[in-house]
Amino acid sequence: MQRTLIIFKPDCMEKKLAGAVLDRFERAGFTILGIKLARLTPELLREHYAHVADRPFYPELERFMSSRPVIVMALAGQGVIGRVREMLGPTDATKAPKGTIRGDFGTDQTVNVVHASDSPENAEKEIARFFKPDELPG
Ligand code: PPS
Repeated sequence: MQRTLIIFKPDCMEKKLAGAVLDRFERAGFTILGIKLARLTPELLREHYAHVADRPFYPELERFMSSRPVIVMALAGQGVIGRVREMLGPTDATKAPKGTIRGDFGTDQTVNVVHASDSPENAEKEIARFFKPDELPG
């Protein structure tokens, strides 16, 4: 069974869309392994977004992602990494088709509702970043 790390971003929280988004994931048959509310610090975000930390948009991304508590979730299922990213649509919500989570609820490239891991290797790293081993089923 594959695992992925999901973050319900500040826009998702502010617009009270967490339930609607979680409903889509549960209807797709995925299983919640761990879930918590967390305020992401600049230090943690610099680690999580290390691959884009030197890009011009990074300061705005850090400000946005630390602006309010978010929901962090480990989700499991067959092919969950690719299937969740298909459900999200592309990073830029203005280009995301209707019916996708970002197409239905997102705003732009930063304000785009949900983060989801992009590979099995990153998923395991990201899950370990946000959850202690004893917070998840063995
Ligand atoms: S890459 O290298 O551009 O493909 O980066 P990616 O892995 O898609 O992650 C980019 C994350 O940064 C957020 N972000 C932006 N991306 C691209 N362009 C702009 N202007 C931008 N602003 C913010 C984007 O929402 C991605 O966040 P996550 O949490 O990974 O969805």
